[in-house]
Amino acid sequence: MTLTDQSRAETYARSLADPDAFWLDQAQRLDWITAPTKAGDWSFDEKDFHVRWFDDGVLNVSANCIDRHLESRADQVAIVWEPDDPAEDPRRYTYAELHREVCRFANVLKARGVAKGDRVTIYMPMIPEAAFALLACARIGAVHSVVFGGFSADALANRMEDCGSSVVVTADEGRRGGKRVALKACVDEAAQIFAGIETVIVVRATGADVAMQDGRDVWYDDAAATVDTDCAPEPMAAEDPLFILYTSGSTGKPKGVVHSTGGYLLWAALTHQTVFDYRAPEVFWCAADVGWVTGHSYIVYGPLANGATTLMYEGVPNWPTASRIWEVVDRHQVATLYTAPTALRALMKEGDDFVTRTSRKSLRLLGSVGEPINPEAWRWYHDIVGEGRCPVMDTWWQTETGGHMITPTPDMMLKPGSATLPFYGIEPKLLDGDGRELTGEAEGNLVIMRSWPGQMRGVWGDEQRHFETYFRTFPGVYTTGDGARRDADGYYWITGRVDDVINVSGHRMGTAEVESALVLHTAVAEAAVVGMPHDVKGQGIYAYVTVNAGVDADDALVKTLRDWVRHEIGPIATPDAIQFAPGLPKTRSGKIMRRILRKIAEGDVSSLGDTSTLADPEVVEHLVANRVSSG
Ligand code: WTA
Repeated sequence: MTLTDQSRAETYARSLADPDAFWLDQAQRLDWITAPTKAGDWSFDEKDFHVRWFDDGVLNVSANCIDRHLESRADQVAIVWEPDDPAEDPRRYTYAELHREVCRFANVLKARGVAKGDRVTIYMPMIPEAAFALLACARIGAVHSVVFGGFSADALANRMEDCGSSVVVTADEGRRGGKRVALKACVDEAAQIFAGIETVIVVRATGADVAMQDGRDVWYDDAAATVDTDCAPEPMAAEDPLFILYTSGSTGKPKGVVHSTGGYLLWAALTHQTVFDYRAPEVFWCAADVGWVTGHSYIVYGPLANGATTLMYEGVPNWPTASRIWEVVDRHQVATLYTAPTALRALMKEGDDFVTRTSRKSLRLLGSVGEPINPEAWRWYHDIVGEGRCPVMDTWWQTETGGHMITPTPDMMLKPGSATLPFYGIEPKLLDGDGRELTGEAEGNLVIMRSWPGQMRGVWGDEQRHFETYFRTFPGVYTTGDGARRDADGYYWITGRVDDVINVSGHRMGTAEVESALVLHTAVAEAAVVGMPHDVKGQGIYAYVTVNAGVDADDALVKTLRDWVRHEIGPIATPDAIQFAPGLPKTRSGKIMRRILRKIAEGDVSSLGDTSTLADPEVVEHLVANRVSSG
């Protein structure tokens, strides 16, 4: 079905006017063991806070993503995998083969004692076995927690400890852009930090020689050879957790965002179908990593629930050349490409030839996600990549929302740089700093007035933190942490985070996390981290560092600290610029004035605003005079 502006507006109006009828009707896109009789049951009030959807429904996610397609599309390709090295052959799995692989994986987990409700950590490269592992967990009712393969041993250990996960699925090594990533070695290091790691299932990906510890480590191949290729899907309540995914916030450690079984799957399936106007068996390519929510919802769950052919790509956009993405599009006749602005900006810099020397005739639709897309990148995507014939879906959403929230659908009027209008059931508002609603054309804090099926259900192990993070600032509504502008047509333009979260190449990073990593180093007395504009990454990481007495604040220390953060968190957290500061601007009560630090990092020193409340105004002059450019 193709949507017109008219039908989108009508359907949207219906979704808000009679949500129960609308959502019970939508729920029929899933296969239920017991169909739900209830839609949303929720309250954002502190006294009675709860969020439940389809509460009496029973289903299994892997049965929805695999088994129910076997009758009509057993021989259709479910997953096509493009390896890092273009000289290697792709791998393809039909739905029938996917069924066998997932059942086998599920039985391997069971044989290692994994049961319903247990947390299984997945620390994998972008290989088909990563998808099998997710679906295998879903099949037996285990809760998966995927940790991006670029995170450090420390980050992995912390996340496993936080959710009490004793089992991790990994690979000997990963490959990205011709380089090897030592995943198993990282797990070994994590096991030194978190003693609760009892089982390590290792997929042979590169064939590298890795250390195996007797009793704890097992090769997946060996285990898989001994199990059955059938495994009955576990009936799950709609509200049972499907997965945990750690994400950064403005304070403290990353939090484990919990998603549900029924509501989440419906949201992923409905948005994938509607926003991309998906038509099976077209090839759908979401070029994210399965370690992020985008990979969960639009590589695995949404597409497979819709019987799609989903493409998984192991490598990076610009290797071996800046043509790689378009060559993959041609090789697999991709109809829809869904990627991040940061990749587009990087490729745009290389010149149009890399694009125009490929065909791209199969492309019908383009998508963007992860950060605001600047109109220049939007136009390049639309005009050069899509040759003006492919609408660009700029989808705004978050780990917490499970799927698209403010997004166009293909037949709508588009504006470069605007995520356009709210999706079905989503009622956004803009509030000023005091929580007053702003009407008409306005800019303010973006909040969501009511629950939707894909909404996160909690922060693992910390109910209070869930409420405090999203429902305290503005009572009775979900606070997104983003700012937005609404234009005269009611279109939304996301302006970026309004909290201390920065968006580096579409990856969320808490400034507090980078600060904690920096102060762990013995040379560092104090650190403050802010975002700065970066022409490819969107935002870069700018760190102000005060060193301990007697420490030389020199270039060697800059390198040491950058390597340190890489090792503590992972390469995506590496500061782009480090400025040594004898002191940081603080109020008389000792609070760091981040607003000023942001301005200096942006190079916008003409409008520092009122600095008279500072304990020591000279600190600012010193910072301005010694600002560093990235590198
Ligand atoms: C930002 C990724 C502008 C936003 C799906 C949000 C966007 C954060 C867009 C969530 C977009 C995501 N336009 N900004 N189309 N999509 N963002 O949790 O700041 O990794 O709050 O989820 O990315 O990042 P997360």
